[in-house]
Amino acid sequence: MKGLILSGGKGTRLRPFTYTGAKQLVPVANKPVLFYAIEDLVEAGIAEIGIVISPETGDHVQAAVGDGAAFGARVTYIVQDEPRGIAHGIRIAHDFLRDDKFVLFLGDNFIRDGIVPQVAAFRDGTMNAQIILYEMPDPSAMGVAVLDGDTRVIQLVEKPKQFISPYAVIGIYMFDARVFDAVDAIKPSARGELEITDTIQYLIDRGLNVRAHLLKGWWIDTGKMSDILEANRLVLDTFESRNEGQVDAASQLEGRVVIEAGAAIVNSTVRGPAIIGKNTRIENAFVGPYTSIHHDCLIQNCEIEHSVVLEHTRIVDTPARIADSLIGRNAEITRSVGNTKTLKLVVGDYSKLGIL
Ligand code: DAU
Repeated sequence: MKGLILSGGKGTRLRPFTYTGAKQLVPVANKPVLFYAIEDLVEAGIAEIGIVISPETGDHVQAAVGDGAAFGARVTYIVQDEPRGIAHGIRIAHDFLRDDKFVLFLGDNFIRDGIVPQVAAFRDGTMNAQIILYEMPDPSAMGVAVLDGDTRVIQLVEKPKQFISPYAVIGIYMFDARVFDAVDAIKPSARGELEITDTIQYLIDRGLNVRAHLLKGWWIDTGKMSDILEANRLVLDTFESRNEGQVDAASQLEGRVVIEAGAAIVNSTVRGPAIIGKNTRIENAFVGPYTSIHHDCLIQNCEIEHSVVLEHTRIVDTPARIADSLIGRNAEITRSVGNTKTLKLVVGDYSKLGIL
Protein backbone atom coordinates (compact mmCIF):
# COMPACT_ATOMS: atom_id res chain seq x y z
CA MET A 1 0.00 0.00 0.00
CA LYS A 2 0.98 3.62 -0.49
CA GLY A 3 0.28 6.77 1.50
CA LEU A 4 -1.02 10.13 0.29
CA ILE A 5 -0.82 13.08 2.67
CA LEU A 6 -2.60 16.32 1.85
CA SER A 7 -0.52 19.23 3.00
CA GLY A 8 -1.72 22.01 0.73
CA GLY A 9 -4.85 24.07 1.21
CA LYS A 10 -5.22 27.57 2.53
CA GLY A 11 -5.18 27.18 6.32
CA THR A 12 -7.43 30.23 6.65
CA ARG A 13 -8.83 29.07 9.96
CA LEU A 14 -5.50 29.47 11.73
CA ARG A 15 -4.91 32.97 10.39
CA PRO A 16 -3.09 35.19 11.13
CA PHE A 17 -0.97 32.35 12.30
CA THR A 18 -0.51 30.65 8.97
CA TYR A 19 -0.11 33.61 6.65
CA THR A 20 3.55 32.76 6.32
CA GLY A 21 3.61 29.02 6.83
CA ALA A 22 1.85 25.74 6.23
CA LYS A 23 -0.65 24.91 8.96
CA GLN A 24 0.55 21.30 8.82
CA LEU A 25 3.93 22.52 10.11
CA VAL A 26 2.56 24.06 13.29
CA PRO A 27 4.34 22.11 16.02
CA VAL A 28 2.63 19.95 18.61
CA ALA A 29 5.06 19.30 21.47
CA ASN A 30 7.79 20.79 19.25
CA LYS A 31 7.12 18.47 16.29
CA PRO A 32 5.12 19.49 13.20
CA VAL A 33 1.64 17.97 13.05
CA LEU A 34 2.52 16.58 9.62
CA PHE A 35 5.36 14.48 11.04
CA TYR A 36 2.91 12.52 13.19
CA ALA A 37 0.99 11.58 10.03
CA ILE A 38 4.17 10.37 8.32
CA GLU A 39 5.11 8.36 11.40
CA ASP A 40 1.65 6.78 11.58
CA LEU A 41 1.96 5.64 7.96
CA VAL A 42 5.47 4.26 8.41
CA GLU A 43 4.41 2.45 11.59
CA ALA A 44 1.62 0.80 9.57
CA GLY A 45 4.20 -0.50 7.07
CA ILE A 46 3.69 2.20 4.42
CA ALA A 47 6.98 3.67 3.23
CA GLU A 48 6.02 4.97 -0.23
CA ILE A 49 4.38 8.33 0.51
CA GLY A 50 3.13 11.12 -1.76
CA ILE A 51 2.66 14.57 -0.21
CA VAL A 52 0.36 17.06 -1.93
CA ILE A 53 1.70 20.59 -1.44
CA SER A 54 0.63 24.08 -2.49
CA PRO A 55 2.78 26.50 -4.49
CA GLU A 56 2.71 28.94 -1.53
CA THR A 57 3.81 26.70 1.34
CA GLY A 58 5.21 23.67 -0.47
CA ASP A 59 8.82 24.81 -0.08
CA HIS A 60 8.46 24.87 3.68
CA VAL A 61 6.99 21.38 3.70
CA GLN A 62 9.76 20.05 1.46
CA ALA A 63 12.45 21.68 3.57
CA ALA A 64 10.99 20.12 6.73
CA VAL A 65 10.34 16.59 5.43
CA GLY A 66 13.07 16.19 2.81
CA ASP A 67 13.15 12.92 0.91
CA GLY A 68 11.57 11.06 3.83
CA ALA A 69 14.68 9.06 4.75
CA ALA A 70 14.65 10.48 8.29
CA PHE A 71 11.28 8.76 8.75
CA GLY A 72 12.20 5.54 6.98
CA ALA A 73 10.02 6.58 4.02
CA ARG A 74 10.40 7.63 0.38
CA VAL A 75 8.52 10.86 -0.24
CA THR A 76 7.28 12.15 -3.60
CA TYR A 77 5.90 15.70 -3.78
CA ILE A 78 2.85 16.53 -5.89
CA VAL A 79 2.04 20.22 -6.41
CA GLN A 80 -1.62 21.24 -6.41
CA ASP A 81 -2.03 24.56 -8.21
CA GLU A 82 -5.06 25.63 -6.15
CA PRO A 83 -6.93 24.08 -3.22
CA ARG A 84 -9.55 22.51 -5.44
CA GLY A 85 -10.65 19.95 -2.88
CA ILE A 86 -9.46 16.81 -1.18
CA ALA A 87 -10.73 14.62 -4.03
CA HIS A 88 -8.76 16.78 -6.45
CA GLY A 89 -5.68 15.87 -4.41
CA ILE A 90 -6.40 12.19 -5.16
CA ARG A 91 -6.97 12.95 -8.85
CA ILE A 92 -3.60 14.61 -9.32
CA ALA A 93 -1.85 11.83 -7.42
CA HIS A 94 -3.10 9.05 -9.73
CA ASP A 95 0.25 8.70 -11.51
CA PHE A 96 2.01 8.32 -8.19
CA LEU A 97 -0.56 5.95 -6.67
CA ARG A 98 -1.05 3.87 -9.84
CA ASP A 99 -3.63 1.25 -8.99
CA ASP A 100 -2.32 0.39 -5.52
CA LYS A 101 -4.45 0.50 -2.43
CA PHE A 102 -3.62 3.60 -0.41
CA VAL A 103 -4.22 5.58 2.76
CA LEU A 104 -5.25 9.20 2.35
CA PHE A 105 -4.20 11.20 5.40
CA LEU A 106 -5.11 14.88 5.80
CA GLY A 107 -1.96 16.55 7.05
CA ASP A 108 -3.61 18.46 9.87
CA ASN A 109 -5.36 15.45 11.40
CA PHE A 110 -3.94 13.93 14.48
CA ILE A 111 -4.80 10.68 16.29
CA ARG A 112 -3.23 9.08 19.31
CA ASP A 113 -3.18 5.40 18.56
CA GLY A 114 -1.95 5.20 14.99
CA ILE A 115 -3.55 3.23 12.16
CA VAL A 116 -1.86 -0.18 12.29
CA PRO A 117 -4.99 -2.38 12.74
CA GLN A 118 -7.10 -0.40 10.25
CA VAL A 119 -4.41 -0.61 7.57
CA ALA A 120 -3.96 -4.35 8.14
CA ALA A 121 -7.72 -4.94 7.85
CA PHE A 122 -7.91 -2.95 4.64
CA ARG A 123 -4.81 -4.45 3.08
CA ASP A 124 -5.99 -8.00 3.64
CA GLY A 125 -9.73 -7.51 3.21
CA THR A 126 -12.26 -6.94 0.45
CA MET A 127 -13.30 -3.38 1.24
CA ASN A 128 -13.20 -0.81 -1.57
CA ALA A 129 -12.98 2.00 0.94
CA GLN A 130 -12.63 2.35 4.68
CA ILE A 131 -13.32 5.47 6.70
CA ILE A 132 -12.64 6.17 10.36
CA LEU A 133 -15.35 7.71 12.50
CA TYR A 134 -15.29 9.66 15.72
CA GLU A 135 -18.44 9.96 17.76
CA MET A 136 -19.26 13.48 18.93
CA PRO A 137 -22.38 15.35 20.04
CA ASP A 138 -22.20 17.91 17.24
CA PRO A 139 -20.18 16.85 14.19
CA SER A 140 -21.70 19.57 11.95
CA ALA A 141 -18.31 21.14 11.15
CA MET A 142 -17.11 17.85 9.58
CA GLY A 143 -18.08 15.27 7.03
CA VAL A 144 -20.71 13.07 8.72
CA ALA A 145 -21.50 9.39 8.07
CA VAL A 146 -24.72 7.43 8.44
CA LEU A 147 -24.33 3.70 9.08
CA ASP A 148 -26.40 0.59 8.49
CA GLY A 149 -25.40 -1.72 11.36
CA ASP A 150 -21.95 -1.36 12.90
CA THR A 151 -19.74 -0.88 9.86
CA ARG A 152 -21.62 -0.45 6.58
CA VAL A 153 -21.65 3.17 5.40
CA ILE A 154 -24.80 4.24 3.56
CA GLN A 155 -24.58 8.03 3.45
CA LEU A 156 -22.01 10.79 3.78
CA VAL A 157 -22.75 14.51 4.03
CA GLU A 158 -20.20 17.33 4.20
CA LYS A 159 -20.89 19.70 7.12
CA PRO A 160 -24.64 18.90 7.37
CA LYS A 161 -26.91 21.73 8.51
CA GLN A 162 -29.20 19.29 10.33
CA PHE A 163 -28.16 16.52 12.69
CA ILE A 164 -28.07 13.22 10.79
CA SER A 165 -25.70 11.13 12.89
CA PRO A 166 -23.11 11.53 15.66
CA TYR A 167 -20.27 10.13 13.51
CA ALA A 168 -17.71 12.65 12.22
CA VAL A 169 -15.52 11.35 9.40
CA ILE A 170 -11.92 11.92 10.37
CA GLY A 171 -9.24 12.79 7.83
CA ILE A 172 -7.81 9.30 7.37
CA TYR A 173 -9.30 7.20 4.57
CA MET A 174 -8.36 4.02 2.72
CA PHE A 175 -9.17 3.33 -0.91
CA ASP A 176 -8.59 0.87 -3.70
CA ALA A 177 -8.31 1.89 -7.36
CA ARG A 178 -12.10 2.23 -7.76
CA VAL A 179 -11.77 5.67 -6.19
CA PHE A 180 -10.25 7.08 -9.39
CA ASP A 181 -13.54 6.60 -11.28
CA ALA A 182 -15.22 8.57 -8.50
CA VAL A 183 -12.81 11.51 -8.37
CA ASP A 184 -12.97 11.80 -12.16
CA ALA A 185 -16.78 11.75 -12.18
CA ILE A 186 -17.81 14.08 -9.34
CA LYS A 187 -18.40 17.81 -9.80
CA PRO A 188 -17.33 20.68 -7.52
CA SER A 189 -19.60 21.37 -4.54
CA ALA A 190 -21.24 24.67 -3.57
CA ARG A 191 -17.94 25.72 -1.94
CA GLY A 192 -16.19 25.02 -5.24
CA GLU A 193 -14.27 21.93 -4.12
CA LEU A 194 -14.17 18.32 -5.21
CA GLU A 195 -15.39 16.83 -1.95
CA ILE A 196 -14.12 13.65 -0.38
CA THR A 197 -17.61 12.98 0.96
CA ASP A 198 -19.09 13.10 -2.58
CA THR A 199 -16.30 10.75 -3.71
CA ILE A 200 -17.20 8.15 -1.11
CA GLN A 201 -20.94 8.62 -1.71
CA TYR A 202 -20.27 7.85 -5.38
CA LEU A 203 -18.70 4.53 -4.36
CA ILE A 204 -21.63 3.73 -2.04
CA ASP A 205 -24.16 4.55 -4.77
CA ARG A 206 -22.48 2.03 -7.06
CA GLY A 207 -22.86 -0.72 -4.49
CA LEU A 208 -19.20 -0.90 -3.54
CA ASN A 209 -18.05 -2.10 -0.14
CA VAL A 210 -17.50 0.99 2.01
CA ARG A 211 -16.89 0.28 5.69
CA ALA A 212 -16.36 2.34 8.81
CA HIS A 213 -14.10 1.84 11.77
CA LEU A 214 -15.15 3.61 14.97
CA LEU A 215 -12.18 5.26 16.69
CA LYS A 216 -11.87 4.72 20.44
CA GLY A 217 -8.86 6.96 21.24
CA TRP A 218 -8.78 10.70 20.67
CA TRP A 219 -8.67 12.55 17.36
CA ILE A 220 -7.96 16.21 16.71
CA ASP A 221 -8.27 18.24 13.53
CA THR A 222 -5.67 20.84 14.36
CA GLY A 223 -7.27 23.50 12.21
CA LYS A 224 -8.10 25.79 15.13
CA MET A 225 -5.98 27.34 17.84
CA SER A 226 -7.84 25.62 20.68
CA ASP A 227 -7.22 22.31 18.93
CA ILE A 228 -3.46 22.94 18.77
CA LEU A 229 -3.38 23.63 22.50
CA GLU A 230 -5.40 20.48 23.14
CA ALA A 231 -3.17 18.33 20.94
CA ASN A 232 -0.15 19.83 22.67
CA ARG A 233 -1.59 18.91 26.09
CA LEU A 234 -2.36 15.37 25.05
CA VAL A 235 1.09 14.72 23.60
CA LEU A 236 2.95 16.34 26.52
CA ASP A 237 1.02 14.06 28.83
CA THR A 238 2.71 11.06 27.19
CA PHE A 239 6.26 12.40 27.65
CA GLU A 240 8.89 11.23 30.14
CA SER A 241 11.49 13.65 31.55
CA ARG A 242 14.69 14.12 29.56
CA ASN A 243 17.45 16.70 29.92
CA GLU A 244 19.90 17.24 27.07
CA GLY A 245 20.48 20.91 27.83
CA GLN A 246 21.84 22.88 30.77
CA VAL A 247 20.04 23.75 33.96
CA ASP A 248 21.84 26.01 36.44
CA ALA A 249 21.80 25.53 40.21
CA ALA A 250 19.32 28.37 40.73
CA SER A 251 16.69 26.66 38.53
CA GLN A 252 14.10 23.98 39.23
CA LEU A 253 12.53 21.43 36.96
CA GLU A 254 9.27 20.14 38.45
CA GLY A 255 7.30 17.20 37.09
CA ARG A 256 7.91 15.84 33.59
CA VAL A 257 10.08 18.24 31.65
CA VAL A 258 11.97 17.70 28.38
CA ILE A 259 14.96 19.97 27.77
CA GLU A 260 16.33 19.57 24.25
CA ALA A 261 19.99 19.85 23.27
CA GLY A 262 21.58 23.25 23.62
CA ALA A 263 18.74 24.72 25.69
CA ALA A 264 19.68 26.69 28.82
CA ILE A 265 17.55 27.17 31.92
CA VAL A 266 18.89 30.00 34.06
CA ASN A 267 17.43 31.08 37.41
CA SER A 268 14.01 29.78 36.34
CA THR A 269 11.31 27.25 37.16
CA VAL A 270 9.93 24.89 34.54
CA ARG A 271 6.89 22.97 35.76
CA GLY A 272 5.91 20.08 33.53
CA PRO A 273 4.55 18.65 31.49
CA ALA A 274 6.56 20.95 29.27
CA ILE A 275 9.18 20.91 26.53
CA ILE A 276 11.94 23.44 25.92
CA GLY A 277 13.37 23.30 22.40
CA LYS A 278 16.92 23.25 21.07
CA ASN A 279 19.05 26.33 21.77
CA THR A 280 16.23 28.08 23.63
CA ARG A 281 17.13 30.15 26.68
CA ILE A 282 14.79 30.46 29.65
CA GLU A 283 16.07 33.11 32.05
CA ASN A 284 14.50 34.55 35.23
CA ALA A 285 11.26 33.00 34.08
CA PHE A 286 8.47 30.61 35.01
CA VAL A 287 7.31 28.11 32.40
CA GLY A 288 4.14 26.39 33.60
CA PRO A 289 2.37 23.14 32.74
CA TYR A 290 1.36 22.24 29.19
CA THR A 291 3.77 24.59 27.49
CA SER A 292 5.94 23.89 24.44
CA ILE A 293 8.65 26.39 23.60
CA HIS A 294 10.23 25.60 20.23
CA HIS A 295 13.86 26.04 19.23
CA ASP A 296 15.98 29.21 19.33
CA CYS A 297 13.62 31.21 21.56
CA LEU A 298 14.35 33.58 24.43
CA ILE A 299 11.94 33.62 27.38
CA GLN A 300 13.25 36.17 29.84
CA ASN A 301 11.76 37.88 32.90
CA CYS A 302 8.32 36.52 32.28
CA GLU A 303 5.80 33.80 33.13
CA ILE A 304 4.05 31.58 30.62
CA GLU A 305 1.85 28.51 30.89
CA HIS A 306 -0.49 26.37 28.77
CA SER A 307 0.89 27.86 25.59
CA VAL A 308 2.70 26.97 22.38
CA VAL A 309 5.55 29.18 21.21
CA LEU A 310 7.09 28.70 17.77
CA GLU A 311 10.74 29.03 16.84
CA HIS A 312 12.96 32.12 16.99
CA THR A 313 10.53 34.04 19.18
CA ARG A 314 11.49 36.39 22.01
CA ILE A 315 9.26 37.05 25.00
CA VAL A 316 10.97 39.47 27.33
CA ASP A 317 9.89 41.49 30.41
CA THR A 318 6.16 40.84 30.18
CA PRO A 319 4.34 42.18 33.23
CA ALA A 320 1.60 39.52 33.42
CA ARG A 321 1.53 35.78 33.01
CA ILE A 322 0.89 34.63 29.45
CA ALA A 323 -1.60 31.76 29.30
CA ASP A 324 -3.68 29.82 26.72
CA SER A 325 -1.67 31.37 23.89
CA LEU A 326 -0.28 30.36 20.53
CA ILE A 327 2.65 32.53 19.52
CA GLY A 328 4.10 32.42 16.01
CA ARG A 329 7.59 32.24 14.58
CA ASN A 330 10.02 35.12 14.87
CA ALA A 331 7.54 37.00 17.04
CA GLU A 332 8.63 39.47 19.65
CA ILE A 333 6.70 40.30 22.79
CA THR A 334 8.19 42.87 25.10
CA ARG A 335 7.01 45.17 27.84
CA SER A 336 6.07 48.76 27.20
CA VAL A 337 4.83 50.52 30.35
CA GLY A 338 2.07 49.99 32.96
CA ASN A 339 0.34 46.84 34.25
CA THR A 340 -2.05 44.23 32.89
CA LYS A 341 -3.68 41.05 34.15
CA THR A 342 -3.56 37.74 32.24
CA LEU A 343 -2.58 38.05 28.63
CA LYS A 344 -4.28 35.87 26.07
CA LEU A 345 -2.64 36.04 22.68
CA VAL A 346 -2.53 34.65 19.19
CA VAL A 347 0.54 36.22 17.71
CA GLY A 348 1.23 35.71 14.03
CA ASP A 349 4.61 34.86 12.57
CA TYR A 350 6.96 37.86 12.44
CA SER A 351 4.66 39.98 14.67
CA LYS A 352 5.87 42.46 17.24
CA LEU A 353 3.76 43.40 20.24
CA GLY A 354 4.57 46.05 22.80
CA ILE A 355 2.53 45.30 25.90
CA LEU A 356 1.24 48.02 28.22
O1 DAU B 1 -10.68 16.83 9.33
C1 DAU B 1 -11.68 16.01 8.80
C2 DAU B 1 -12.52 16.75 7.76
O2 DAU B 1 -11.60 17.16 6.72
C3 DAU B 1 -13.60 15.84 7.19
O3 DAU B 1 -14.57 15.53 8.19
C4 DAU B 1 -14.30 16.50 6.01
O4 DAU B 1 -15.22 15.62 5.43
C5 DAU B 1 -13.26 16.91 4.98
O5 DAU B 1 -13.88 17.63 3.90
C6 DAU B 1 -12.22 17.81 5.61
O6 DAU B 1 -12.84 19.01 6.00
P1 DAU B 1 -12.10 20.41 6.18
O7 DAU B 1 -13.02 21.48 5.70
O8 DAU B 1 -11.63 20.49 7.60
O9 DAU B 1 -10.84 20.31 5.21
P2 DAU B 1 -9.67 21.35 5.02
O10 DAU B 1 -10.05 22.33 3.98
O11 DAU B 1 -9.22 21.85 6.37
O12 DAU B 1 -8.52 20.45 4.41
C7 DAU B 1 -8.00 19.34 5.09
C8 DAU B 1 -6.51 19.18 4.77
O13 DAU B 1 -6.30 18.93 3.39
C9 DAU B 1 -5.65 20.39 5.12
O14 DAU B 1 -4.44 19.90 5.67
C10 DAU B 1 -5.39 21.07 3.80
C11 DAU B 1 -5.44 19.92 2.82
N1 DAU B 1 -6.00 20.31 1.51
C12 DAU B 1 -7.30 20.70 1.46
C13 DAU B 1 -7.89 21.06 0.26
C14 DAU B 1 -9.32 21.49 0.18
C15 DAU B 1 -5.23 20.23 0.37
O15 DAU B 1 -4.03 19.85 0.45
N2 DAU B 1 -5.79 20.57 -0.83
C16 DAU B 1 -7.09 20.99 -0.95
O16 DAU B 1 -7.54 21.28 -2.06
